[in-house]
Amino acid sequence: MKISPSLLAADFLNLSNEIDKINASEADYLHLDVMDGVFVPNISFGFPVLKGVAKACKKPLDVHMMTVEPDKWISHVRDLGAEIMNVHQEACLHLYSTVQHIHQAGMKAGVTLNPATPVETLTDIIREVDLVLLMSVEPGFGGQPFIKYTTEKVKKLKELRDASGSKAMIEVDGGVNESTGQLLAKAGADILVAGSYIFGNEDLNAAVKRLKCL
Ligand code: DX5
Ligand code: ZN
Repeated sequence: MKISPSLLAADFLNLSNEIDKINASEADYLHLDVMDGVFVPNISFGFPVLKGVAKACKKPLDVHMMTVEPDKWISHVRDLGAEIMNVHQEACLHLYSTVQHIHQAGMKAGVTLNPATPVETLTDIIREVDLVLLMSVEPGFGGQPFIKYTTEKVKKLKELRDASGSKAMIEVDGGVNESTGQLLAKAGADILVAGSYIFGNEDLNAAVKRLKCL
C-alpha cells in the first residue's frame, strides 16, 4: 500500500519540522489540500506557502485541488514540481480537456469524486487518467468520520478500471485509520491519504508503517 500523508493535519507553526518528519518517514507522497472557500467552505493554504513546502519536501507531491476552475492553477501546480494534480470531477465542466492540460504540463492527472458522485461517471475517461481519488468524507475538513459505503465504491471502481484496461491508481481520502484502511486495502485501494491519523500520532513514521503494511 502506498501512503500519502495529508499536510492539512500538520502543526502549521512547526511546518518545517513536520516536513522533516515526512522526509525521514516511509511515506510515498505528501498530500497537499488546496481549498478556495468556494468549491468547499474552508480555506487551507495557497501557493506562497506551497512554494516553501515544495522546496523543503523530498517526497513526490500529490496535490488535491478543491477549487472551482482548477485549470487556472495547472501552471502553478506544475511550478511546484508536483507529480500528481487531482481535480474534482464536480468542478470541471470540460474534464477531458483539463486532463489533457495536466498531461501537457508534465504531471500525472488525477480525477477526484465526492462521496455522492458515482464511479460510473468515469466510464469513458478512465483510460485517460493516471489516478482516481475517491473522497470518503465531504471535502473541506480533516478529522471527519469515514463514509462506510466508500469500500463498495472502491470495489466498483476496481472492476471498471480492470475491465477497461486502464492503469489508473485508486486513492482514497478522508477518515483513514488502521481499521478503515484495512477495509480499503481489501477492497482494492492502491494509495491511502491520511491526515489526523498520521500527524496526530506521536511517532509519525510508526503510523505510516502501520498503514503501509495493510
Ligand atoms: C479533506 C481533505 C483530506 C483531509 C483528510 O478535504 O481532502 O485530505 O486532510 O483528513 P483526515 O485524514 O483527518 O480525514
Ligand atoms: Zn485531500
